[in-house]
Amino acid sequence: MFASIAPTYDLLNTLLSLGFDASWRQKAVELTAPNPEARVLDLCAGTAELALTFAKRLGQKGYVVASDFCWEMIELARPKLKKTIPPLKKGGGGDFTSSITCPVVLLQADALHLPFPDNTFDVASVAFGIRNVSSLNQCLKEMVRALRPGGKVVILEFSLPQGPIFGRLYNFYLNKLLPWVGNFIAPGRLKAYSYLPASVGQFVRPEELKREMESCGLIEVQSHPLTLGIVTVYVGRRP
Ligand SMILES: C[S@@+](CC[C@H](N)C(=O)[O-])C[C@H]1O[C@@H](n2cnc3c(N)ncnc32)[C@H](O)[C@@H]1O
Repeated sequence: MFASIAPTYDLLNTLLSLGFDASWRQKAVELTAPNPEARVLDLCAGTAELALTFAKRLGQKGYVVASDFCWEMIELARPKLKKTIPPLKKGGGGDFTSSITCPVVLLQADALHLPFPDNTFDVASVAFGIRNVSSLNQCLKEMVRALRPGGKVVILEFSLPQGPIFGRLYNFYLNKLLPWVGNFIAPGRLKAYSYLPASVGQFVRPEELKREMESCGLIEVQSHPLTLGIVTVYVGRRP
């Protein structure tokens, strides 16, 4: 399913989120507050948008691994890397002020069976991916296992806004309008774009996700609703 929507994924993401998606990822990075030398693992990375947002915050001694089990998705990140890493100027230097200086590695891997030893990363992140994995518990345990003590798990995921008026409006948008727009831009993908509202509706509520994070060994777990609760950022720390 993800391979089939890969070519239009970024465009539809921006359209369907009305351009908010970049600011949500930015907020997730800010709430994580990684130090410039952090080693970051971004799971279910898709086209590596969150991975690149992290990379912009790190210095040359940090690095980011963007991993996804769908090759068609992760491959779309390759041209982005070429664009964001500045060419070195003759005689050294380059305009690094708004660009990426840390290494970014793209990897095809299953979030439920990470190919890394224990205690490898300072941050393990996942944006709009954790509701898709077949075992939430196993994915969280893998993230915690791959973290060094003191490292952080950060999750950005859709949630359902509360309140009678906005809640209903959003419900209509999510269940009726969004699959239709998705199918209009990427014809023949109605099933994939109907999966999105279904998976958001079936996913655990924020309080339950926080409990699950704690039961997997994380402490100081906090949730931060964004844009009236359409999405929530969760941050927890490995003791
Ligand atoms: C909705 S996309 C999110 C992409 C990206 N993180 C973003 O913020 O736009 C979900 C991604 O999760 C990936 N995914 C789902 N289950 C996975 C698993 N078990 N292991 C690795 N990737 C997985 C899919 O291939 C897809 O690229």
